[in-house]
Amino acid sequence: KHCFSKSEDGYLCCEGLRVEDVMNNVEKSPFYLYSKPQITRNFQAYRDALEGLDSIIGYAIKANNNLKIFEHLRKLGCGAVLVSGNELRLALHAGCIFNGNGKLLEELVLAAQEGVFVNVDSEFDLDNIVSAARIAGKKVNLLLRINPDVDPQVHPYVATGNKNSKFGIRNEKLQWFLDAVKALPNELKLVGAHCHLGSTITKVDIFRDAAVLMVNYIDQIRAQGFKIDYLNIGGGLGIDYYHTGAVLPSPRDLIDTVRELVLSRDLNLIIEPGRSLIANTCCLVNRVTGVKTNGTKNFIVIDGSMAELIRPSLYDAYQGAGLVVHDAGAYCMSMASTYNLKMRPPEYWVEEDGPWPRSVMQRHLKTI
Ligand code: LLP
Repeated sequence: KHCFSKSEDGYLCCEGLRVEDVMNNVEKSPFYLYSKPQITRNFQAYRDALEGLDSIIGYAIKANNNLKIFEHLRKLGCGAVLVSGNELRLALHAGCIFNGNGKLLEELVLAAQEGVFVNVDSEFDLDNIVSAARIAGKKVNLLLRINPDVDPQVHPYVATGNKNSKFGIRNEKLQWFLDAVKALPNELKLVGAHCHLGSTITKVDIFRDAAVLMVNYIDQIRAQGFKIDYLNIGGGLGIDYYHTGAVLPSPRDLIDTVRELVLSRDLNLIIEPGRSLIANTCCLVNRVTGVKTNGTKNFIVIDGSMAELIRPSLYDAYQGAGLVVHDAGAYCMSMASTYNLKMRPPEYWVEEDGPWPRSVMQRHLKTI
């Protein structure tokens, strides 16, 4: 079941509610419209797939940082993956993993104080983590972000697992990091290994190849006396932006390709999906301002723009459109700007099936 569908008389509906009715009942457009039940269904697909494994699902907050959405996922049992101090403040106490290759000292101090897992990405990152542990007076739980050199076969802008990308630690430096961690038992505790190959991956074999390499690294690390329990395989699956009808792998297909490996090493599996949890739960609803012709081209002018949704203009990303823009739940509102001095758009969600007016949300962010 998918939240957006056409009614028999041709209207686009969200969980059976006409998008046009929502448009006529809210103050301003453009706006983002989400389906809460679809968020639940997407999360459940991962949770069901992980049955039988010790695991953590860490929602990549960068995909969408609406607090209501995060609170909902948290209630369902989801954790969080963070890349900044403000994301950390938003997610506090939810079971977090702090990622990124430019983490600031003050952000790391907060992470140390709150006891969140930290992925270490470089030598200077490790230095900052050690300083943060000393300032906070707490040991930091570390995962080594390993760059396994696996080609994710995605757009170069969202590829991070190749050896020439700026992310992660290459194998020739692994021993240096292990020695450094060993030398600082009061500041650091190594708990696992992490990799993230890239976003929009749609082939599960790529995850499998990475997991095989990662388990090898984990064997090597354990052989040196480290008791590490966590394998973090990074972001989740891509989605079918083109609506070709092609059947993409499901979370179950993904988890099943790594299940035996994870069980064979008695590991706790962490996965950090963003896009596949939230992208298809939302569309950006725009109002037509007018139509015009220039040369041989016809234009439909709408009130939405690259300020509200930048992915197509930023890197030629494709998102289906027919006045609403589809699949707009991930990396859309979280990348919206105030370009042209526009206000960031409001967000609503449809809570469940039933007649209008149904519960809708307005963006609600904790002061951070
Ligand atoms: N973990 C790490 C370390 C990441 O860097 C990312 C995404 C994720 C998890 C979540 O990956 P997902 O499940 O969403 O594929 N701005 C781009 C997307 C950049 C993704 C960056 N990292 C876009 O508009 O598509």
